[in-house]
Amino acid sequence: MQTEAEIIIKADLQALALAAAELFVVSALTSVGIHGRFTVALSGGTTPASLFRALRQEPYRGRVPWDKTHVFWVDERCVPSGDPLSNFGTARRELFEWIPIPPGNLHPMDGEGPPEEGAKAYQKVLQDFFLLKEKEIPWFDLLFLGIGCDGHTASIFPDHPALMETERLVVDVLGGDPYLQRLTLTLPVLNQGRCIAFLVAGSAKAEIIRDIFEQGGHRRLPAGMVRPRHGHGRLIWLLDHEAAGLLS
Ligand code: 6PG
Repeated sequence: MQTEAEIIIKADLQALALAAAELFVVSALTSVGIHGRFTVALSGGTTPASLFRALRQEPYRGRVPWDKTHVFWVDERCVPSGDPLSNFGTARRELFEWIPIPPGNLHPMDGEGPPEEGAKAYQKVLQDFFLLKEKEIPWFDLLFLGIGCDGHTASIFPDHPALMETERLVVDVLGGDPYLQRLTLTLPVLNQGRCIAFLVAGSAKAEIIRDIFEQGGHRRLPAGMVRPRHGHGRLIWLLDHEAAGLLS
């Protein structure tokens, strides 16, 4: 069991999406209040789409300081942004086309060029935006993560060398389902979030959630190895009832 994790269980995906949208708003207002801006990193897959559809409507849309909100990506599939598999494309279609965020506040990964170049380019995007010194890791105000049925998060897959990366902020990876070239933030970056929130829904995730919390998965699975660095920051597992169905 992860001692520092907060587990919040909601009735269903819609209730989970509303809770995630409220977390987004509160994190944004808090971050802007403290340091004048809000930096958030989004994951791909299907679960975040429910969050996006909630955020583009009231009572969430009008409360977010979009002009001070900067959006980054946790990972990206190496496909054109118009491809249905593109994480940026999904977020653009489901959220950004509906809200008044300045285009310059969106910082997508470049999944269209050579993966290794894309990873290096995004590392530079992070270093330039966060004014990072060599080997420095950025602090995100909020990261939304998902978990695959195999325990992956971002595009860090079990037993993949990317799991052991400690130097680079972004790496290119071949893997996942769909089996693709991908770009992903590395574990040190995922762990340096003021708030790290997993969004997990559906009965298909119940076994991996039980593994993470009750069968040692938190020591060996990528999603289980995400925890705030030095204990600074909140780690929230936002589950729907189905995903939490096997927890004792
Ligand atoms: C990706 C995601 C990935 C996702 C999980 C869960 O690009 O595929 O970043 O890590 O979060 O696979 O995906 P679902 O939300 O679709 O279950």
